[in-house]
Amino acid sequence: MSSSPKWVHKIIQPMRQTKRFFREPGFRSALFTQLFQAKHVHQTTPLTAMDRYPVIFNACRDYFEGKENLNILSYGCSTGEEVVTLRNYFPNATIIGAEINKRSLAACKKRQTDEKISFVYSRIDEIRKHGPFDAIFCMAVLQRKPHHMAETGTSSLKKIYPFEKFEHTITELDDLLRPNGLMVVHFTQYDLLDTAVASKYEAFGPYTQHDYKSPVFDKNSEVRRNPAPQKIIFKKTSK
Ligand SMILES: C[S@@+](CC[C@H](N)C(=O)[O-])C[C@H]1O[C@@H](n2cnc3c(N)ncnc32)[C@H](O)[C@@H]1O
Repeated sequence: MSSSPKWVHKIIQPMRQTKRFFREPGFRSALFTQLFQAKHVHQTTPLTAMDRYPVIFNACRDYFEGKENLNILSYGCSTGEEVVTLRNYFPNATIIGAEINKRSLAACKKRQTDEKISFVYSRIDEIRKHGPFDAIFCMAVLQRKPHHMAETGTSSLKKIYPFEKFEHTITELDDLLRPNGLMVVHFTQYDLLDTAVASKYEAFGPYTQHDYKSPVFDKNSEVRRNPAPQKIIFKKTSK
């Protein structure tokens, strides 16, 4: 945290934001998404990279080894790097990237891909047309401002990102996942095993969010004190 007095921070912060608003189209589009898609949007920043989670992607590839005709969803695919990465791990799969930020989605659609990749605007009815899925990846999506939460020591997410919003999305996605499919939920402030669909899932493998920057929260949206690192990959064991 900066060592300058709080009142200096209060003046400088809005000035910085205003400057970014006029200079950075990506910043503007994230802000518009937050304003106009408030009900549906989770994490607002589009930060992404190629092959961002190799250990997790490898584990999923090994799990599905030998299985043909996989159908995969990348929920919150940003500008498409995750989808292109998944193609390298799953050369024959059908892969759908769903994204709520229209600027990011436009960048996805400009990519030269193959006929088994498509990008859709993220609405559950639209995504459902492409399901059911064998694997759903929600990577760095089901969270809000993780670094800010870590810096400020926030004890409740109730106002900014309540548990119910996370649970609602997990429940909708669960409905689109086949039995024995994998739900992969990484960099999230809540735990799938706290949701109403938890009894259908078991954690798969030793993979945890040990390097997550944000605190994590319980089903009352209150911070957990000294939690064990959350699991990431979940196998759907019953319908
Ligand atoms: C930090 S990026 C993560 C991108 C990628 N999954 C990764 O891990 O590299 C989060 C993305 O989730 C998107 N997002 C947030 N809410 C969403 C929703 N309801 N449906 C689809 N995408 C959403 C944001 O627009 C943003 O592009």
